[in-house]
Amino acid sequence: MKRSRILGVGAAVPSRTVTNDDLSRRMDTSDEWIQQRTGIRERRYVEVDTGATELGARAAEAALAEAKLDITDIDLIVFATLSPDIDWPASAGLLAARLGAPQVRAFDVRNQCSGFLYGLACADALLRTGVARRALLVGGEIHSTGLDLTTRGREVSVIFGDGAGAVVLGPSDDPERGLLSTHLHAEGKYAEKLWLESAGSRKKPHISVEDLEGEDPAVFPRMNGKFVFKHAVTRFPEVIREALAANHLEVADLDVLIPHQANLRINQFVAAGLELDESKVVNNIDRYGNTTAASIPLALREAIDDGRVRPGALVCLAAFGAGFTWASALFRW
Ligand SMILES: CC(C)(COP(=O)(O)OP(=O)(O)OC[C@H]1O[C@@H](n2cnc3c(N)ncnc32)[C@H](O)[C@@H]1OP(=O)(O)O)[C@@H](O)C(=O)NCCC(=O)NCCS
Repeated sequence: MKRSRILGVGAAVPSRTVTNDDLSRRMDTSDEWIQQRTGIRERRYVEVDTGATELGARAAEAALAEAKLDITDIDLIVFATLSPDIDWPASAGLLAARLGAPQVRAFDVRNQCSGFLYGLACADALLRTGVARRALLVGGEIHSTGLDLTTRGREVSVIFGDGAGAVVLGPSDDPERGLLSTHLHAEGKYAEKLWLESAGSRKKPHISVEDLEGEDPAVFPRMNGKFVFKHAVTRFPEVIREALAANHLEVADLDVLIPHQANLRINQFVAAGLELDESKVVNNIDRYGNTTAASIPLALREAIDDGRVRPGALVCLAAFGAGFTWASALFRW
């Protein structure tokens, strides 16, 4: 079985920048509060009527161009998103149609901030077992259309932004290089600590006037920020060490860590705990906020461009988020 490797990486963000000062004109918050607690300076919001598929398609086209492949070369599409264009069918099918793919295997991964890494593990398994030959994995999110942009929703809303990232995966001819391993975890008992309750099938009808207009509308994401923070700073180091140990490697061997971008303070905490030099940790949350399933491929694109991710580098991707779910992946680039 050949290892999978990344043949191309693409990123796409909306052109509209929303600063912390822009938000503070809509709700009771401040640039100082947001920067101090999260490290975020600005994020991108789409204009109306742009779904996650549209941004995802732009990232996918860039990834395909770098891989020098056409959509007809792809026989598997995995779309990681918590903000699908529509409830069902899967956005992966819409993305395939938007990209002009012929009949192709296509499915969504609904796993929030670790969705990209869960999708990577699925694509890798299907590639290594010969089910597929070339995979397109996309993480794409439109948060801005689903946030409570009033003071009531400020704890959650200031964190999130829109964006998409994509990778093309194929077999590695060098047995030493490519994806070394993936590590996936979930603990559903904490689902209510960070979730979007409505619309959902356990209610009849799936959405009610109360969900939309009640005092604490269930159509907006809810989060226990401190609880999430505490678990994130525990699970990140655990799952990073797990990936290294599985490959008989140590933190000192790591060249680059690309963590999910949830909060700069979380990533600084994790780097300090691992005694990892901060120059090895890729952060771009200051410019994009938390883009959930898109954050890792967006940061990966930047780390390739700035030369930190280079041939031969040991690169760890890691994520923690709603579910709770968390995951890591280790590459010899
Ligand atoms: C959300 C988060 C930034 C809050 O930081 P914190 O250090 O817990 O918050 P603090 O205790 O310093 O401040 C809370 C106070 O700020 C207020 N506050 C919340 N959001 C605010 C905002 N956007 N602007 C100004 N004040 C805000 C709260 O109402 C609260 O006020 P109170 O003390 O009068 O009740 C932090 O908990 C966090 O980042 N958690 C992880 C979130 C995350 O990563 N989510 C995604 C996971 S993938």
